[in-house]
Order: sequence, then C-alpha cells, then structure tokens
Amino acid sequence: MSLIHPLTIGSVSLSNNLVLAPMAGITDSPFRVLCLKDGAGLVCAEMVSAHALHYGNAKSGRMLRVNPEEHPVSMQIFGSDEQTIREAACQAQAAGADIIDLNAGCPVKKINKAGAGCVLMKDEPKLARLLTAAVKSVQIPVTLKTRIALNHHEFLGARLAKLAEDCGAAAITLHARAAVDVHSGEPDVEALAKACVAVKIPVIGNGGVTSASYAKEFLAAGCAGVMIGRGAIGNPFIFRDIIDELEGRPVPAHTPQKRLEIYSKLIEENVAYYGERIGINRSRKTAGYWINGFPNASAVRGEFVRLDTIEEVRKLFSTVFEV
Ligand SMILES: Cc1cc2nc3c(=O)[nH]c(=O)nc-3n(C[C@H](O)[C@H](O)[C@H](O)COP(=O)(O)O)c2cc1C
Repeated sequence: MSLIHPLTIGSVSLSNNLVLAPMAGITDSPFRVLCLKDGAGLVCAEMVSAHALHYGNAKSGRMLRVNPEEHPVSMQIFGSDEQTIREAACQAQAAGADIIDLNAGCPVKKINKAGAGCVLMKDEPKLARLLTAAVKSVQIPVTLKTRIALNHHEFLGARLAKLAEDCGAAAITLHARAAVDVHSGEPDVEALAKACVAVKIPVIGNGGVTSASYAKEFLAAGCAGVMIGRGAIGNPFIFRDIIDELEGRPVPAHTPQKRLEIYSKLIEENVAYYGERIGINRSRKTAGYWINGFPNASAVRGEFVRLDTIEEVRKLFSTVFEV
C-alpha cells in the first residue's frame, strides 16, 4: 500500500492521511479551507477553552464556527474539569465538528497553571477521566493530542496511546518532542514507532514535518498519518506536494508571485470572515511566511503593519509586487 492512503478515524473517513495541526492564531476557518483545497485529509482548529465556553465567552463561541466547505474538521478543546469538557465537546459537535480533539500537550504556562495541556501527562487518571468524559458525551469520534514525553530521557508515548485507546479515543496524535522542548529540536521518530505498535487505534505523528522525506520517515515508522504544523504556514501547498512526491508525480514550483496571489485571496477571506480590522491584523501575523521570496519583503512587511484598510493593503500589494 502507498504510504499516502485514506484513513478512518472512528466513523470519519479521510481521503488521505495528512493532517493540518491545530495552531492558535493560525488555523482559523479561512486557512483551514485553503489547506483542504490544497490536499489536507483533515484540518484541525485552534484550541478552544472549555472553561471560556462554559462562561459563554463570545470569542471562544465564534471559534467553533464551521464553514460548510471545511469538512472534515477537528475542533480541539482544552480544560481541566470533566463537566466543562463535556459541555465543550457537545457544543463543538453541535457546531458541526466531525471530530473532537482533547489537548494534553500544550506547554504554555497560562494553560498549564489552569491544569490543562501537557500537565495532564503527569496525571494519567485525570487525563483518562477528561478523555472518557468527552468520548461519552458526543456521538462523533474523540481523539487525543499529546506528546511523547514531558522531559528528555522519558518515554510516555506508548502509555498515553494505550490510555487513549482504553478510554475510547478513535486516534491519538503524538508530537514527537518532549514538552520541555516546546516546538524545537529533532522529532524522536523511534519513540513514535514504539507507540504505533502499542495500540490498534491510528497514531498520527507530528513534529518538524516540512517535506515529503520527513513525512515518509514518519509513515515508514508505522504512523497511520502525519500532522503538519508550521510547515503549512504560508505554504498550504505542502499537502499536495507531499502526496505528489510520495506517489511519484512531479511537484509544481510555487513562485513568489503565486504565493502572493494566494495570500492576497486569504487576506480578502480573513476580512470577509472577521471584518476589516481583525482580518487585517490576523493576516499580518503570517506575512513573513507568504512573501519571503520577494527582494523587498521586509520593507513591505514594515509597510503592511501600518495599514488599516483593505483598500490600502490591495494598493500596497499591487504597486510593490505588481500583482
Ligand atoms: C503558533 C502555534 C500555535 C499552536 N497552537 C496549538 C494549539 O492550539 N493546539 C495544539 O494542540 N497545538 C498547538 N501548537 C502545536 C502544533 O499543533 C504542533 O504540535 C507543533 O507546531 C509541532 O508541529 P510542527 O513542527 O509541524 O510545527 C501550536 C504551534 C504553533 C507554532
């Protein structure tokens, strides 16, 4: 069988086994739609606080919105309390999510202080209770995203995969770096391989995949799928490119001009989705990834920061880069 293949997560069938990672501030609806069009088999939304949803926070509620064009989509929730996790899972299901993912890998202090994210790796009974609560409260598949370890020279991957399976999770994503390393360092592919043989549910490997050769390494190690995070920022083509390369087809060139055209469309989508001010603000964050091929990229980024309206942005891009 080809390394790229359809993947089933519980009752959800994915056309292929490449997944867009959840990334706060990045993987919102407009970007998720783009990645699905560019070949991702599944897209994951930014993590949403179960606690904030419980208290009716409007911004968190809006984060659950699902565009009809963006299926299959996984909505990630985080929290530390069974009742709020149950409620959040139900809300995400009602909003149209295909899959619910529980975050147990985030190393951000604020999240950890609230008892959520990677600190749950230290308290397996609590993690099991939260995961079971989510699984039992919805009819759609629930998955777990965690890490292979908290610290160096530690290996929790297989244990946590088993825990997820025993709690009824339909798949587990393992970020192949210890939590202390946050997002840097080489992924530990051997640790992924050990987790893959410990369970029957799909293990999706994550961490540092920026090309077909990394994806191939993960899949050859036994991962059922590969999750891509930063490699997709400013580069949603990565999914199609990996599929083409691993299936022996030529990979098309993505010229700076082509990237700019896609980026310009994404900015328009962001403005339509969030309104002008927030749409432009969010678009700015990833400008460096999209326009880095142009000789005057840093000057344009500097100019972009000062602009407030979509008309000004259109003008900047059309004059400076001559779209
Ligand atoms: C800006 C940013 C935001 C992130 N937000 C989330 C998140 O909301 N939930 C989550 O589980 N992981 C989050 N992550 C971690 C990614 O999902 C992924 O595990 C990590 O980036 C490693 O994959 P990569 O090396 O392919 O980027 C985030 C990472 C980045 C860079």
